[in-house]
Amino acid sequence: MAEAAVKKSPGRGRFITFEGGEGSGKSTQIKTLAERLGAAKLRAIVTREPGGSPGAEIIRHLVLSGMGKLLGPDAETLLFAAARDDHVRTVIEPALNQGIWVLCDRFSDSTRVYQGRLGKVAPEFLNAMERVTIGDLKPDLTIILDVPVEVGMQRAAARRGTRAPDRFEAEDIRFHQDLRDAYRQIAAAEPERCVLIDANADAGTVAANVWAALRDRLFAAGSNVVSA
Ligand code: TMP
Repeated sequence: MAEAAVKKSPGRGRFITFEGGEGSGKSTQIKTLAERLGAAKLRAIVTREPGGSPGAEIIRHLVLSGMGKLLGPDAETLLFAAARDDHVRTVIEPALNQGIWVLCDRFSDSTRVYQGRLGKVAPEFLNAMERVTIGDLKPDLTIILDVPVEVGMQRAAARRGTRAPDRFEAEDIRFHQDLRDAYRQIAAAEPERCVLIDANADAGTVAANVWAALRDRLFAAGSNVVSA
């Protein structure tokens, strides 16, 4: 019954990606949204990039260890692309085709921002990688969680505890500021797909705003899913 309340092609799942800098609260918000969709009787899976499939998780380990950085920005981009190719083919597409909603922690915007804007990888190279790995697959909705850099970095440090920072957490404050600017630019350039949400608020407020974005963009008017 919930399927009928979804805008357009009710048989196919919806693809929702979450993006943002370090410590923006993506994991918490994805978990909350998955619970809420479950309560609304919509089947949903939570996945992430890099990773989300056995092969891609091996690549995740490689890039976050800093190994990819040693190879240079283009080769590091190829590693992210290889991970995405496997993840899309074995997890995301099959789920969407079965009517399952896919909530993905990071996707191709991360490549645009981290490798493109910050790693200075050429747009033509990124376009070619996208054609190969995702083809026509585009998120139905991208939630960009926006948080001041100092706040995000403090949150990430608190979450990490005694663990050493990973490849990207270890970058300096300037890098993280550029990251934030790049995400804000994507949100401004693609308002049909992206919603920028202030993630400096408490988790409950952010979750309410995430749900409002789904209500406005993905559910049909008058749907009873909305109040679930
Ligand atoms: P996270 O899952 O903790 O956010 O860590 C993933 C890291 O990988 C994060 O710092 C962003 C980075 N990343 C890229 O640089 N390019 C990509 O395409 C993706 C998906 C992630």
